[in-house]
Amino acid sequence: MQKLIIKGKKELSGNIYISGSKNASLPILAASILANKVYLKNIPLVKDIFTMVELLKFIGLKIKINKKKNIIQIINKEKNINTSAPYKLVKTMRAGILVLGSLLTKYGKAKVSLPGGCAIGTRPVDLHLFALKKLGAKLKIKDGYILAEAKKGLKGNLIKFPSISVGATENALLASCMAKGKTVLKNCAIEPEIEDLILFLKKLGSNISLRGRTITILSKKIKNSKINHKVIFDRIELGTYMIAGALASKKGLTIKRIDPKFVKSEIGILKKIGVYVKKNRNSIMIKKNNKLKKMNIITKPYPGFPTDLQAQLMVLLTQVEGVSKIKEDIFENRFMHVPELRRMGAQIEIKDRTAIIKGPAKLIGAEVMATDLRASVSLVLAGLVSENRTIINRIYHLDRGYEFLENKLKKCKVNISRI
Ligand code: UD1
Repeated sequence: MQKLIIKGKKELSGNIYISGSKNASLPILAASILANKVYLKNIPLVKDIFTMVELLKFIGLKIKINKKKNIIQIINKEKNINTSAPYKLVKTMRAGILVLGSLLTKYGKAKVSLPGGCAIGTRPVDLHLFALKKLGAKLKIKDGYILAEAKKGLKGNLIKFPSISVGATENALLASCMAKGKTVLKNCAIEPEIEDLILFLKKLGSNISLRGRTITILSKKIKNSKINHKVIFDRIELGTYMIAGALASKKGLTIKRIDPKFVKSEIGILKKIGVYVKKNRNSIMIKKNNKLKKMNIITKPYPGFPTDLQAQLMVLLTQVEGVSKIKEDIFENRFMHVPELRRMGAQIEIKDRTAIIKGPAKLIGAEVMATDLRASVSLVLAGLVSENRTIINRIYHLDRGYEFLENKLKKCKVNISRI
């Protein structure tokens, strides 16, 4: 089992280049089932992407990956298509459920494994199924699989989501772009990754408009020509390195290949805490400030502060004088990093869905265990400001979503190694 070792208390400085977004690439890969030839650029080569590629190959698509250039080419020859997604692939990556919308709308049937729970909460798929039913799908759950059918094709409808879900919005979008007539999706997630999916679907010929939290889709014939698409940058990776800079860069850390407009709430919060942030057109410079201010934060769907940066921000708040609070409003069990941070010296208490953080805490390296993707990276951040060595176990979680993490940090003078 691989481990990461970090020797902390080192100045972090230099440039970091942000990779393409994992959470944008996954639904776009699922959308590629709808096309015949797709050429995707800026795909981060992380474990979740390889799992999605395996799933698409299982379905029958031909895929070539250019690892040097982060390009994936997908060809659907419409031969030997298998309209199913097996448990062994969906259980390791929930986004596998996204092939449901594409398969059902294009081939009229799909059999997709239920993803099950995960470390951060139960994560049901009722909202995905609710939307597909509204589009006319016949659904059954049998032996842990969703069996979906729409023999005569799906039909557009008005769908108002009872609560906001990124995945359910994406599945509904995928399904409705080949449904007959007009679909109106209300109370949608509007993350930048969803906008990127919409851009991709428009290139396929779909007529889609987004206003507030409402998405309107007028289905059109899907184009069979070759689609080129460059995936947007990973705003969660950007937020993670912004926090790294805020923790450990006195000289300044410059983060490049980004667009600051997608991280307005993150920049606003870091500035309020007192971190030095300078925005440029395609980069952000972050510097540590020793006089930070306590802060209360609630995670919210975009454009609010993302749950995917909650664990990382908590590490920063352990270094701030006074009592800060973070309420986790998206997932019911996303404080798995707290016991590990406590073992490193953090003073954090949990009350219901709120973490109460007393700072500043002197962190001291320990042997800790990664429990999910973002919790894992928060331990890396804690390692940057800890005395002695931090050893992080179970780092396969990190490999699911952070491209070249060690190399990017090493280039900024962090003492980090994998054994
Ligand atoms: C996506 C992101 C994940 C991020 C999350 C919230 C990807 C691949 N993953 O996950 O990194 O943390 O958005 O920003 O893009 N829910 C239901 N029923 C459903 C679906 C969701 O109750 O059918 C609940 C979930 O349990 C959760 C909340 O809705 O409490 C939001 O989840 P959702 O937005 O669907 O997250 P994902 O799409 O799974």
